[in-house]
Amino acid sequence: MLNDSIYHHDGALYCDSVLVSEIAVQVGTPVYIYSLRRVVSNLRRIQTAFADLQPHIHYSAKANANLAVLRALVEAGAGIDAVSGGEIYRALLAGAKAENIVFAGVGKTRDELRYALEQGVGWFNVENVGELHHLNELAADNGKTAQVALRLNPDVAAQTHRHIATGHGGAKFGLPAEVVRDVLARQADYPALRFDGIHVHIGSQLHDTQATQRAVEIALELIAPYPEIRTVNIGGGLPVAYAPDERVPAWDDFAATLAPLLRGYTVLLEPGRSIIADAGLLVVSVLYVKQQAGQTFLITDGSMAELIRPALYEAHHEIVLVNRPSPSQGEGRQAATQVHIVGPVCETSDMLGRSRALPDAQPGDLLAVLTAGAYGMVMASNYNQRPRPPEVVVTEDGQTWRVVRRRETWDDLVRLERNVYDNLA
Ligand SMILES: Cc1ncc(COP(=O)(O)O)c(C=O)c1O
Repeated sequence: MLNDSIYHHDGALYCDSVLVSEIAVQVGTPVYIYSLRRVVSNLRRIQTAFADLQPHIHYSAKANANLAVLRALVEAGAGIDAVSGGEIYRALLAGAKAENIVFAGVGKTRDELRYALEQGVGWFNVENVGELHHLNELAADNGKTAQVALRLNPDVAAQTHRHIATGHGGAKFGLPAEVVRDVLARQADYPALRFDGIHVHIGSQLHDTQATQRAVEIALELIAPYPEIRTVNIGGGLPVAYAPDERVPAWDDFAATLAPLLRGYTVLLEPGRSIIADAGLLVVSVLYVKQQAGQTFLITDGSMAELIRPALYEAHHEIVLVNRPSPSQGEGRQAATQVHIVGPVCETSDMLGRSRALPDAQPGDLLAVLTAGAYGMVMASNYNQRPRPPEVVVTEDGQTWRVVRRRETWDDLVRLERNVYDNLA
């Protein structure tokens, strides 16, 4: 969706003060562009919404782990929520202090746990009893005490897409209430662990506040017998509107619902999407216009390999022309028509937008897929041997831009096989 940082002016799309078409012409398409100003202002808006609780915000790197994005957030005071050794590695490289990293994840390996302990990661959100045993053993071997928040599976159904709901009983995430109760009663079995918190995250893109409220209530009931447990990590999930008619609760509503419950606790938040989604766009070029079976397909150079959300979650992204034709340029063009915006990948699900009204786009036109900053580039693949696109940031002053990850090349695609293959030949 368009916003203060990504907007049309005189028919041209801007990212802050930079013309999107200027970046596309110089860098080529497809290309991801992020407004760092918007990233930091989203962080500030969350801080303002939750001001009553003064939460520690740990940006969820899974949403977008570009080093420049991570660094901007770390410099603005955010900690990081990491779900793998790779994300911890990136966070540290971006300047995060280890103690400001929380390490979550359903299946942490011993190597990842060891690495996190050695680096001095601040919190371990633990999701199963086997992991507790590993962590206890590894921490003891390292002469350390690990700070743990047990991740509760509250058996609460979040109102969201079924693929991103994580708090229902059948999900693989977290520990059921009875296991949390049992572990807390046996803390002495884990002498190298300190059980200082509880963690709950029921899903992403949450469409109601009640489920989160219920989950937090259950978490608080479980820690009530342990007055020394003073930290509650309420995960991420703050929603973003992807379409003009998508109704999502305001972040203030989440804060207002949770503040009365959580007063007096140290609160951690792990927002990902809400910080980066609407700060990013994917710019693609129209390659062909194809009429077939009574439909119009705009075939672009962007695909599900660059942005898989529509194919994976049937997600909606608004798609706009980067340069809207002026009335005089528009004379030769027809009025808006319904088109399917597709990519070159050999899958029927390779569709960026279905049945969209676009003013008669033509080959060479640039299209912007909006609200694409979260779960976009991080999920990009090389499927069909497509080099992954570059990432560009418009800096916080809004005036300048730079490529912060270059476009992959065909050579990059074979680099890890090349030597092996040459030696076989
Ligand atoms: C444990 C945890 N925390 C935080 C997040 C970030 O969620 P979101 O991007 O919806 O804020 C996720 C993503 O699903 C998660 O699994």
